[in-house]
Parts: sequence; C-alpha cells; structure tokens
Amino acid sequence: MATTYSICVIPGDGIGPEVTGCAQRVLDALQDSVGGPAFAFEQHPAGLTAYNDIGQALPAATLDAAKSADAVLVGAMDVAALPPGVPEPLTGLRTQLEVHASVRPSRTMPGVPAPSGDIDTLVVREVTEGVYSGIEYQAGPDAACAVRLVTRQASTRTARIAFQHAIERRGKVTAVHKVGALKLTDSLFLEAVEHVARGFPQVEYETRNVDACALEMIRAPEDFDVILATNTFGDILSDVAAGLAGGLGLAASGCVGERWAYFEPVHGSAPDIAGKGIANPMATVLSAAMMLRHLGERASADAVEAAVTAVLVAGSPRTGDLGGSADSQEVTDAIIQALSTPV
Ligand code: IPM
Ligand code: MG
Repeated sequence: MATTYSICVIPGDGIGPEVTGCAQRVLDALQDSVGGPAFAFEQHPAGLTAYNDIGQALPAATLDAAKSADAVLVGAMDVAALPPGVPEPLTGLRTQLEVHASVRPSRTMPGVPAPSGDIDTLVVREVTEGVYSGIEYQAGPDAACAVRLVTRQASTRTARIAFQHAIERRGKVTAVHKVGALKLTDSLFLEAVEHVARGFPQVEYETRNVDACALEMIRAPEDFDVILATNTFGDILSDVAAGLAGGLGLAASGCVGERWAYFEPVHGSAPDIAGKGIANPMATVLSAAMMLRHLGERASADAVEAAVTAVLVAGSPRTGDLGGSADSQEVTDAIIQALSTPV
C-alpha cells in the first residue's frame, strides 16, 4: 500500500486558501500520475481570519496539529492588518516549531525573463529573532523601539544549514551583515557564522554589507550561491532574489528544524487580488515540492518541479504576474496535465 502522509494545511488569509487549494490538487494527483504517495490533509486556522473569527491569530489547536502532522503547508497570513499587541503568528509558528532557518531558492526559470542575467541562489534566512523578535515598546509619546535580538544558538543553527546546502550546491556562502552600524548584534552573528565556517573548509566563505550585497545581487547575480542572513536582511534579500528570478509568483520556501518542518510561498496574502482566483499558484506548488523532498519523496518532488517547468516552457497558461491572463485553476490543471506527460 502506498504511504499516506498527514499534512497540516494552514491556508491563512487573502490568496492563501486559493494557492494552498491548488497545491493540494497537485499533490492529490501524484498517486495516479507518477505512483506517488497519498495525502491526508487537515485544514487549520491561523492569521487575520482566525483572529477575527476566534480571537486568536495562532490557536493552540493549530499548533498541536502542526506538531503532530508529517509536514505543514502554509498559504499566507495578513500580519499587517493584525492590531498592535497581537503576537505575530508567522514568527510564533516558526518559534514554536523550533525552525530557525527559512531556505529560499531563486533560480532563473525557462521562458521567464530574468531582469539582470541568470540567477541561482539560496537565501538562508534566520526567522525567529532579529528585528522581528516581537520585542517592541513605546518609549514616550513620540518614540518607539524594536529590540534586535541575535543569539549564538539561532545564528549557529542557521549557519549550519547554509553551509550544508552550500556543499550540495556551488560551494560558496555569503554572510550578510551591517556590523559597522550594528556592532554588538552583527559581531555576534558573524562570530557564530565564522565558527561554523571553520568546519566547512571546502566552502568558500565571504561576508558583505547588506546594502552592497543588494546592489551586487542586482549587478552580478551569478556571483552568489548561498546567501546567509539575519531575519530582516534575509526577508528583504529573498524578495530581491525572487525579483531577479522572475517574481514572487515563483518563489518557494521551506523552514526545516530538527523535529518539525513547514513550507510556504515567499509571497504574502495579496489582499488586492484575494478572492479573484487569479493568483499564481506556482510558488505554493513549488513549496509543496520542497515539502516532498523533505519527506524523502524525491521522485514526486522532481515530477512536480518538472511539471511546473514544462508549463513555463510551453509559455501558457500563465497568470497575470507572468504576463498571461489565465486563472489559478487553469495553471493548476496544466501542471497536473504535465505530471502525466513526462518530457
Ligand atoms: C516572508 C514574509 C513574512 C516574513 C511576513 C508576512 C511576516 O514577508 O515570509 O518573507 O517577514 O517572514
Ligand atoms: Mg518577506
């Protein structure tokens, strides 16, 4: 009998439910098309809709379900619309699942114009602390503070993931910082990273200031392989990398910890197009492929990635972000069709 994986789906807000629905359709098609595994999906609330409906942005029952599933697939959460004082649910999920690093590949895809030459990078971003640690306070009527928390433990764990990926890739890690302005926090970060780097002598290691790094990524994307960054810098640079590879519609990510793992598109909840059925489902489908790889289902992961590539090579159908006029379901249909049509 084929394996059945339990997947906790957190559709979230905005286009989240639409794109996770498309990814579930692709996963469900794997068994018949390529003899892949089966899936038992369970949907759980989190985000703005959950907060409005039940008063909690990250309900305890959702966390329990995420911890007991084989893997977690997240859509998107409208964290910007949550009122101040409500703990940010994505960071909460990441912290509770003890995942320190979000791994975000960006690669020039066939038939998708790259604005600045070919790119093939992996941003490894610390996702539980830094400026987004949630420690904020009002410092008088006209000032507010956010604390940038950097710990040796989270920096070390994230660095290890970056170097482990680098040996499987082109063997280079660029650590991003602004140590001139952030003397204590970024010295600690770089010290932790250098310690890890010494254990990987086969990997070329360099450091760059975040501003110079953003500029160089745009000027010479081919110079970069793995880009290792603290939370906010990695948030920004992973969008830069996604833009250089053709846009957020294709940008997938996964957060893998020692016990738990979850996967999500890099894009947000896009409230402006929510409910219209026109969001590009490819980023979530590619995140589901990363999830398959994590589950050890390599053949199915390869099949999903090849199917997305085949649809891109064909030139249509495409959603609006890639210059087409198809809706999310048409693109999903084409991906499923391509699964059964090996190239
Ligand atoms: C991302 C997103 C989120 C983040 C937001 C929505 C909290 O921008 O995954 O990159 O910064 O982690
Ligand atoms: Mg982001």
